[in-house]
Amino acid sequence: MSPISPDIALRDYRMPVYQVPDTVIEVLPIAQRQALKARLRTLLNQKNAVLVAHYYTDGDLQLLADETGGCVSDSLEMARFGTRIDAQTLLVCGVRFMGETAKILNPEKSILMPTLEAECSLDIGCPIDAFSAFCDQHPHHQVVVYANTSAAVKARADWMVTSGSAVDVVTMLKQQGRRIIWAPDKYLGQYVQQQTGADMILWQGACVVHEEFKGTELELLRHQYPQAKVLVHPESPASVIQQADVVGSTTGIIKAAMELDAEQFIVATDKGIFHKLRELAPGKTFIEAPTAGRSATCKSCAHCPWMAMNTLGKAIHALETGANEILVDPAIIERARKPITRLLEFTRDQKRLAGDA
Ligand code: 13P
Ligand code: SF4
Repeated sequence: MSPISPDIALRDYRMPVYQVPDTVIEVLPIAQRQALKARLRTLLNQKNAVLVAHYYTDGDLQLLADETGGCVSDSLEMARFGTRIDAQTLLVCGVRFMGETAKILNPEKSILMPTLEAECSLDIGCPIDAFSAFCDQHPHHQVVVYANTSAAVKARADWMVTSGSAVDVVTMLKQQGRRIIWAPDKYLGQYVQQQTGADMILWQGACVVHEEFKGTELELLRHQYPQAKVLVHPESPASVIQQADVVGSTTGIIKAAMELDAEQFIVATDKGIFHKLRELAPGKTFIEAPTAGRSATCKSCAHCPWMAMNTLGKAIHALETGANEILVDPAIIERARKPITRLLEFTRDQKRLAGDA
């Protein structure tokens, strides 16, 4: 069997049908935003809580996280940060799998989220029953799942990886002669397979945001901006990844924008990242990669509808009332902690070897 041919059981499996919500960006007058930020700052202090935000969330939430000793980062660092901090409550602004990962690693802490409706299409597209049955058919494969999965799917896995660590983990597994079940993102899986040459069976999930970036339209845009470097998140289709100067996690993209000797960048990832890009690489120009062809329409238009649900008002409500607490079955926590801890230890050892820990 060719390493990346979809498995027979996968071809038979129908991906769940779900409604992608509209992306609703909250627009408020500056004075109102300032007042909400002040209230949230006070609550964080009163409740001994820290704000852990993803780069795709509201710019003011990111600013507040930075100002109050919280963290703004990619999913790997979000997971790591929660384990290092003393605070009793983590206010996780992102999507549900990020809150669940925080709970799995810190079961004694309260993990609150602005909303429990913030899903992820990769998580929705990989339900535990179907995934577990699929794994049962390949008992000798190592099960490697992306962070963007439910706690139950992680509990079924040998390894959890993030976009910033997937290639290194799979390279190591390949060196050990392992065959791999990969889930859920087919594009990231194809990219990892192509980078490592590993023998991988891919679950056929996709991110509703990154899947919409268009290779042909990107080519046209590159002709308009011939000096621009192209930065791509690996959840994007191969036709987009092929044109990248740098393929990386959200942190990798920000680092590249800061370090590369270029003034213009075309960026193929959620546009929430532009907040941090402009803050850390001021004076440089960032251009959104195209999501729709001339006659096509985009569903997410490069902004995750679920990430956009994290508003200042909902964050305040969660801290004021203790609403939207993430709870995970202790038996699942016990099993899901192993693949996540493995990754944290692996990346820590790699940093040590590279001399920057
Ligand atoms: P990162 O880990 O690169 O931040 O990616 C998370 C994510 O959900 C991307 O869509
Ligand atoms: Fe999931 Fe895509 Fe949203 Fe990231 S951007 S949380 S992968 S739906």
